[in-house]
Amino acid sequence: METIHTIAWMKQVAQEARKNDRLLGLVPTMGALHDGHVSLIRRAQQECSPVVVSIFVNPTQFGPSEDFQKYPRPIESDRAVLEKIGVDYLFAPSAGEMYPSGFRTAVDVERLSERLEGRSRPGHFRGVATVVLKLFEIVQPRFAFFGRKDAQQVRIVQQMASDFNLDTEIVVCPIVREPDGLALSSRNAYLKPEDRRAATVLCRALDALRREVTGGEHDVARLLVALRQVVDAEQSVSLDYAEIVDAETFEPVVTLRRRCYVLLAARVGGTRLIDNALIEQEDDALRVTL
Ligand code: PAJ
Repeated sequence: METIHTIAWMKQVAQEARKNDRLLGLVPTMGALHDGHVSLIRRAQQECSPVVVSIFVNPTQFGPSEDFQKYPRPIESDRAVLEKIGVDYLFAPSAGEMYPSGFRTAVDVERLSERLEGRSRPGHFRGVATVVLKLFEIVQPRFAFFGRKDAQQVRIVQQMASDFNLDTEIVVCPIVREPDGLALSSRNAYLKPEDRRAATVLCRALDALRREVTGGEHDVARLLVALRQVVDAEQSVSLDYAEIVDAETFEPVVTLRRRCYVLLAARVGGTRLIDNALIEQEDDALRVTL
C-alpha cells in the first residue's frame, strides 16, 4: 500500500488510473478503523480497482464543543488494517494541506442539512459536504462508498453529487453491528463498561419497532411512543431525537411509506450515538432492516 500525504500526488495517481480506464473506488473515513469501515472497503474492492481509502479527521465538521481534539487517531494500527486487507492507496492529508490559510468556500446542502443531526450539530453537514466535495475533486472516484449508519450524511452527499453533476456514483453499504446489535462506531471506544451495556438500547428500540411494524402497526405517532418508552427505560441514556422520516426528503411522515428511515440519536454517558433502521415496501408488506 502506498501512503499519500499531498493533494498534488493524489491527483496524479488518480489521473493515471483514469487514463488507464481503471475503476477507481474511494472510501472516505476519519480513521480509527473498525469492521464497519472494513465492510465498505471490501465492497469497494469487489467493484473497483484501485481502491483509495482516505483518513482525515475533518476539523470543519466538528462543533466548538465537540470531540475534535480527543477523536481517536490510531494511525499506525489503521495503516496495518489497510495493509492487511490489501488496500492500494491510503490518502492521509494534513489539515493544512486540505485547508490552507485563506480557504474560503463551503458547501451547504439546503434543507436536508438543517434537521436532525444538522439541528443538533450546527455546521456539521456543511463541514461534511465541503470535505467530501474536496475529496471527490482530488480523487475523482468512479464510485464512492458510504455507510447507511450515517443515513442523513449519505442522503446529503447524494444530493450534492446530483446538484453538482459529479461523475461519482454513491454506493450505500449496510450497517455493521456488534453481536449484541450495537452499531459499530469509532466513538464506541469512549463508552465505559456500564455505558457500553446501556448503549444497546438504541438497537433494542429499533428491533422492538421492527416487531410492531411486522405486526401491522403503521401509525408513526404510536410507533414513536413505543420506541421512546424502550429508550426511556434505560436511565443513563437520554434521547436527542427519535423520528420517522421520508428517505428522500428527510421530512417527518405520519404513516409509514414505501421508503423511510427511523432515526435515533442519544447521549449515553458523555457519548453521543446514532442509529437507524430502513423501512421499505416489499411486495405488499413493509420490511424493516436494522
Ligand atoms: P467515519 O465516521 O470514519 O465513517 C466513515 C464511513 O464509514 C461512513 O460512510 C460511515 O457511514 C461508515 N460507517 C461507520 N460506522 C459504520 C457501521 N457500523 N457500518 C457500516 N458503515 C459504517 O463519516 C465519516 O467518517 C465522515 O463524516 C466522512 C464521510 C469521512 C467525512 O469527513
